[in-house]
Formats: sequence, C-alpha cells, structure tokens
Amino acid sequence: AVENAVKFARRYTGRPGIIVFEGAYHGRTNLTMAMTSKWGLFKKGFGPFAPEVYRLPVPNLYRTPEGMTEEEWVDWCGWNLENALTAHIDPSALAAIVIEPVIGEGGFIPVPHKFLRKIREVCDAAGAVMIADEIQSGSGRTGRLWAIEHSGVVPDLIISAKSLGAGMPISAVTGRAEILDAPHVGGVGSTYGGNPLACVAALEALKILTSPGFLDKAQHIERMVRETFEPLKAEIPVLGDVRGVGAMMVLEFVKDPKTKEPWQEFAMETIKLASRRGVILIRAGLYTNCIRFLPALDIPEDMLREALLVVAGAIRETYRALAVGA
Ligand SMILES: Cc1ncc(COP(=O)(O)O)c(C=O)c1O
Repeated sequence: AVENAVKFARRYTGRPGIIVFEGAYHGRTNLTMAMTSKWGLFKKGFGPFAPEVYRLPVPNLYRTPEGMTEEEWVDWCGWNLENALTAHIDPSALAAIVIEPVIGEGGFIPVPHKFLRKIREVCDAAGAVMIADEIQSGSGRTGRLWAIEHSGVVPDLIISAKSLGAGMPISAVTGRAEILDAPHVGGVGSTYGGNPLACVAALEALKILTSPGFLDKAQHIERMVRETFEPLKAEIPVLGDVRGVGAMMVLEFVKDPKTKEPWQEFAMETIKLASRRGVILIRAGLYTNCIRFLPALDIPEDMLREALLVVAGAIRETYRALAVGA
C-alpha cells in the first residue's frame, strides 16, 4: 500500500521526490526501506535503496533539545521542513510528504498537531500530496478511525492495513479520487489485490470499528495503561516516559532521566521476565528501548489489568536487578 500511495502521488503530480521523517517505518520492500528510518535494524546489508527520498527531523517532544521549549522545538521542525524545499528539494520536484500521525516502530511518538498542520500547509503550497501512513495508528487504534482525525488535518491519501482486516492480510490506499484515478488503467495492481476473503473480513471489521461506542474502548485502555505506569515513574526513575494515544501506548526506558540515554537492556530484561509469566511483549523505538502496548480493543478488562500488573512487576524486578544492584 505504501508503494502504491507513492505511485499514485508520483503519477498525479508528475514529480519524483518524497519527504519522510526520522524514526519512520514504512515497510521492507526496496522503496519502502528507503523511506524507513533506523538503518541498523531494517536496512543493514539490503541496499542500495531507491532514490529521491529525503528525511527530516520530526518533533519528538520527549527528546526536545536542551535549551528549547517544546513549542520552540515544534516550530523549529516546522521551519526546517519549509527550509528543506530550498535546502534539499525544489517544490516543483516534490510529489508527497509521508507521515505516520503517531510514529509506530519509531516509538509511538504522537506527532504534534501543529507540525501536522505545517505539513498540510507545505503540501498545499508546493502542490504535493499529503499521505498519512496509518498502517499501525489507524483502523480505530487510537480511539478515532484514523489517528490524524485527532488533529483536524485532512490528508490527501490514507494508507491502512493491520487492524483493517482483523487478522486477514489486506492493505488499502484511500483518498481523493483525482489522485487515485491518475494512473492509466492497469497501472496499479497485484496478484493479491482485491482478495475477496480479505475484503469481506475488512468490511466486517469496519462495521465493528464504526459501531456506536466501540472506539471509546481505546480511551479506556489508555487510562488503564496510564493509571498503572505513570505512578511508577516516581519509584522507577529509569521509566522515562509513558506516552501514546488510545490503545497505542509505550513505555520508554532510559539510563538517566536527565540525559535520557536509551536503555535497551532494561526493556529486553523486562520483556524476558514478563514472557516467563505469560505476557508476550514487543519492543519499539528508534533506540529499541521502549515496550509497546497494542491490545485488542475488545480485550476483557480483567485480562488487561492482570497483564499490566505482570509488566509492572517485571519492571520492578528488572530495576532491582539492573539499576539498584549496579
Ligand atoms: C507505519 C507502518 N507502515 C508500513 C508498515 C508495513 O510494513 P511491512 O512492509 O513490514 O509490512 C508497517 C508495519 O508495521 C507500519 O507500522
């Protein structure tokens, strides 16, 4: 779907350039590897990569540079994006800007709404296509059907997958008809495109996701995660951040809450302990020092509570073993 979104944008604009951001994950095919950040994990040994992809910083508020306020950091990143259309690529060569409204693999970083608005402005001024990659953040995950809805910004194309099929393999590019109709007939297709079984699964999933009150569960999950882990920050200072939106929450571990030096081993040890107690977790983050939670929206509350307490216990035990013992 990411490949196709870029094809639509290039065919529509007649331009080659794509702007993406630090920490982005857009996939593992050759073009999407070029668009993906985090070279060591996702790209090592697999190059050369596709050209005409330009990467810029994104305002990750947890890592606001010292001496700047969060607002100054957001504004600087916005200025840098505008400046990139002089420094890196001419507006007349820019096909699209691709952003995950909540950056997924990169560490569940909610992109500040002001920055999303700036992307919209820059796309409008340049005549480029704004693409929201909602493969991880979309399909109800954050409590709205699409995470970008929280900001009020309307992108030109939305890319979705994962929860869209509730387990069946399907991905989609949805958006403005004049962009999607730009390619010639037969220009976009694939062996598995329009698979009937996957389409039926996605239609049923969308019915459930859009049924009244269903997405409220995401807010409830966010509250439960915050209530479990935010109080733990005082007790476990290496738990640097608890962040995310809805049922897309992350814990970030650092060696020192002031320097914010990432602590990968802490996340890994916690995961090993929790998995021995029946809770399987997955890491995240540009520095692989985060643990992410993406529970099913219909997870029974007592099951989620039990799992979160197992994780909290594993964090305490890891802290005693690695930090207090050190
Ligand atoms: C934001 C985002 N884009 C794209 C993808 C698709 O990646 P892949 O090529 O691994 O299926 C993912 C998968 O995790 C994702 O999270």
